[in-house]
Amino acid sequence: MAAVVLIGAQWGDEGKGKITDFLAEKADMVVRYQGGNNAGHTVVINEETYKLHLIPSGIFYPEKTCVIGNGLVIDPKVLIEELDYLEGRGVSTKNLRISSNAHVIMPYHRLLDVLEEEFKGEQKIGTTKRGIGPAYKDKASRTGIRFSDFLDPDELAKKLAYNLKEKNLIISKIYGQQELNYEDILQEYLGYAERVRPYVTDASLEVNTYLDHGSKVLFEGAQGTLLDLDHGTYPYVTSSNPVAGAACIGAGVGPTRISKVVGVVKSYTTRVGEGPFPTELSCETGELIRTRGGEFGTTTGRPRRCGWFDAVIVRYAVRISGISDFALTKLDVLTGMETLKICTGYRYKGELLTEFPQSLKTLAECEGVYEEFPGWQKDLTGISRYEDLPVEARRYVERIEELTKVPVTLLAVGPGRTQTIIRGSIF
Ligand code: GDP
Ligand code: IMO
Ligand code: MG
Repeated sequence: MAAVVLIGAQWGDEGKGKITDFLAEKADMVVRYQGGNNAGHTVVINEETYKLHLIPSGIFYPEKTCVIGNGLVIDPKVLIEELDYLEGRGVSTKNLRISSNAHVIMPYHRLLDVLEEEFKGEQKIGTTKRGIGPAYKDKASRTGIRFSDFLDPDELAKKLAYNLKEKNLIISKIYGQQELNYEDILQEYLGYAERVRPYVTDASLEVNTYLDHGSKVLFEGAQGTLLDLDHGTYPYVTSSNPVAGAACIGAGVGPTRISKVVGVVKSYTTRVGEGPFPTELSCETGELIRTRGGEFGTTTGRPRRCGWFDAVIVRYAVRISGISDFALTKLDVLTGMETLKICTGYRYKGELLTEFPQSLKTLAECEGVYEEFPGWQKDLTGISRYEDLPVEARRYVERIEELTKVPVTLLAVGPGRTQTIIRGSIF
């Protein structure tokens, strides 16, 4: 039995899609366990680029089972678009399963995400406006609509009526906007329900059955540790738990099942949306990394904020998720830089901090303390053996290992499936 959880160890967009696709070759099942279509996971196979938001990145292996777990909030319109997109490109979705306990994103969630952000003004989070926060809010309030309700016309009608009554009051009385129409939403969603019905099942039962039979299961996290609702830079976070522990809750498996946790880390740091970012480079170097790394959001197209590798946050991610191995991505992007920096601690009011501070206010006043490294000029994108990397690149990787006490088991030197240096096994 092997159950591996793969998570983002920074602020998302670390290359989880690429690494999931890579590891999926050895897995029998790939499971998403939280988030929704705020995620944008890119997979590049033989020059073909695919962008996924809901469907697990194991879908490109037709014989593997892909599961969308109970921990997700799913916009059925986006799900159907993604099914059509994949089928249209010759990718079979017949082995997809969706948990009947997953929650449904409704049109009022999307609208409220926009209105709440506008209302926050200066304090806005910079959400993806996909309705994620409002849908998780309803889940916690116990008024959400789950897939089992969505597939039952009577339940859908009843739950929509209650929800819309409340949401329309908020939309009209608080935000002064036009109310949404009950019948329009009901008819739209009854149509979606028929399309997704064949995929919906007891997903926890399927995942556990696979594990009972000794099959290999890979759990694909979305977002990243610093966007975690409990452990991230609250309130500048998402509304779910991207950390490894959440795989158990979001898929319905016990913690004793998990054998390894892979932390996907980018060779530098990026962040989309608002919130503190101690190693941010608001200068030409940041611009250079953005251009070379193609750092523009997969979901919203927004430019990503870029900065140096921050060992403080990555060490924190190791602590919170019990990361056993790293998949270090985008090392190739750093080629050509004269000097590289790694942040090893923070300076806060003259004091040196080596642990990630709990208070956002403290974090916002922290400045990075850096070690400098000579860069390299060689193009890394065709290298397949670790020994063939320039000595400066190896020194950079090995310093990350020393600072975090976690081995870099996989090393990505390009977006393609084959551009991955293997230094050990995960499954
Ligand atoms: P995810 O959300 O963690 O799956 O990451 P995204 O797909 O949003 O962003 C990562 C981007 O980097 C995508 O465009 C990937 O194709 C690309 N990528 C992943 N690994 C590498 C790598 O090692 N080198 C380069 N140059 N690009 C990579
Ligand atoms: P993947 O899985 C990067 C960010 C948003 C915003 C905050 C809250 O591709 O790594 P939300 O819409 O979730 O309420 O927005 O979280 N965010 C991400 N940033 N990668 C993601 O996903 C993200 N999903 C949400 O930019 O700051
Ligand atoms: Mg992404």
